[in-house]
Amino acid sequence: MGLKNKDLLGLKQLSADEIMEILETAKAMKMVLQSNVKKTSHLQGKSVITLFYENSTRTRLSFELASKYMGSASANISASGSSVAKGESLLDTARTIDMMATDIIIMRHSQSGAPHFIAPHLNASVVNAGDGMNEHPTQALLDMFTMYERWGDFAGKNVAICGDIYHSRVVRSNAIGLNKLGANVSVYGPKTMMPIGIDKMGCRVADSVEDAVKGADAVMGLRVQLERQHKSLFPSVAEYSHFYGISEEMLSKAKDGALLMHPGPCNHGVELPTCVYDCDQSVINEQVTNGVAVRMAVLYLLNARRNNL
Ligand code: CP
Repeated sequence: MGLKNKDLLGLKQLSADEIMEILETAKAMKMVLQSNVKKTSHLQGKSVITLFYENSTRTRLSFELASKYMGSASANISASGSSVAKGESLLDTARTIDMMATDIIIMRHSQSGAPHFIAPHLNASVVNAGDGMNEHPTQALLDMFTMYERWGDFAGKNVAICGDIYHSRVVRSNAIGLNKLGANVSVYGPKTMMPIGIDKMGCRVADSVEDAVKGADAVMGLRVQLERQHKSLFPSVAEYSHFYGISEEMLSKAKDGALLMHPGPCNHGVELPTCVYDCDQSVINEQVTNGVAVRMAVLYLLNARRNNL
């Protein structure tokens, strides 16, 4: 039981069996969340620190709640308000946290590969909570858990992901994970937001939103990441929404009952209109709930790995 590696850096480093173990463990953790007493003792006597160099609501809060529900001591550090703002390096910051007998560090950073850089220097396990444009493993795990609860299996399922593919660490982690579990992934977005080589990650590059979503079992919109754009990559919001957004009409081209997903936060009226965000097929709110269960599962399995050392 537990994960093979000390750290959870990406879906790239997880086997299909490990992903399934996380999803199965998340089922049990969701039952804890739905019970009257949201408390376990799995992390009693352990410490979990979130270290965020980028903003976050869902990821940071769900990790913090997950660790507290499991009985750990937990604390948050942001780049602003810490000695990072005085110029302390990433490695010195991470080592300082590590030297306080920390068991697990959850880190988000704007630089791709930042968690991979610090992990070998630390005794603590490092969880990647999003690194630049590389991976966001726990987001993909919660997305896959949301699908798994509905489908029970991934083989032959079709997942369409539309929007700002280039800047999205969510699409990269989902593509890697879904492929490992036997699902097919189609992507579509503006040519200016389509990374070279995305097809080599096992994604079919569609010709239009309609082409991407046709026959899909799940349709995922992605946030336009304006904070990572140094120049405008599309002419106007109206054109983006018209050509690349997931409208009610486009969603109707997917399979009956297809799941409508979005990692959040959503730019309403850009990647999808509010009526689609709130439609009966939308599982966006469920994704948020599942985020806590999946992060409890990740903390549980990393701790099991540490105890088995
Ligand atoms: N999906 C996601 O990572 O959201 P936050 O930026 O709010 O954590």
